[in-house]
Amino acid sequence: MKVSIHGNELELKMGDITKQTTDAIVNAANGLLMGGGGVDGAIHEAAGAELLEACKQIRQEQLNGEYLAVGEAVISKGYHLSAKYVIHTVGPIWYTDVENKEMLLANCYKNALKIAVDNGLSSISFPSISTGVYRFPVDLAAEIAMKTIVDFLRDHAFGKVVMTLFSEEDYKIYTTKLKRVLQ
Ligand code: APR
Repeated sequence: MKVSIHGNELELKMGDITKQTTDAIVNAANGLLMGGGGVDGAIHEAAGAELLEACKQIRQEQLNGEYLAVGEAVISKGYHLSAKYVIHTVGPIWYTDVENKEMLLANCYKNALKIAVDNGLSSISFPSISTGVYRFPVDLAAEIAMKTIVDFLRDHAFGKVVMTLFSEEDYKIYTTKLKRVLQ
């Protein structure tokens, strides 16, 4: 499904984010930025070992050795990926008692888009952040993601945002939520 929002394009598709050719792809990472399973593992594997080195450097130089906080985002090169950049963000874990999980998930999308704009990028692909290992309910996550991205595109001349869903079920849920947000 493709829609136009104030001259920008928003596309929902099924696919593997590591194959996307947008300027940047977003990684659903963890605060350590050391790779992991799921989409994080797939991105590190496809980008090559240089990505891990770049992430270590980001932690040392930009984060003073601390973890990347939930909802925040950092950018690295894409190395062997088709995408020139990877924007790493950390989604909230659903099964912890942290408050404001909805706001933190929205921040992931907002801060990734902001960092894309700050770096002069005009296209970006997102995975369904937090809805795998972090167990955020897909229904609620999709509503937050679609609302946040649509709000952003209504306010910015950006270019193209792709939501890359890994299952048909997720694709259907995100499509339903997008239609509702656009009503
Ligand atoms: N392309 C697109 N989406 C993918 C891909 C891929 N190649 N691989 C997995 N996904 C999907 C999953 O099916 C899920 O819908 O990405 C979504 C997010 O799932 P996770 O990767 O588990 O991410 P998250 O829930 O945010 O958990 C993050 O998992 O691997 C660790 O290091 C990561 O600790 C962090 C945690």
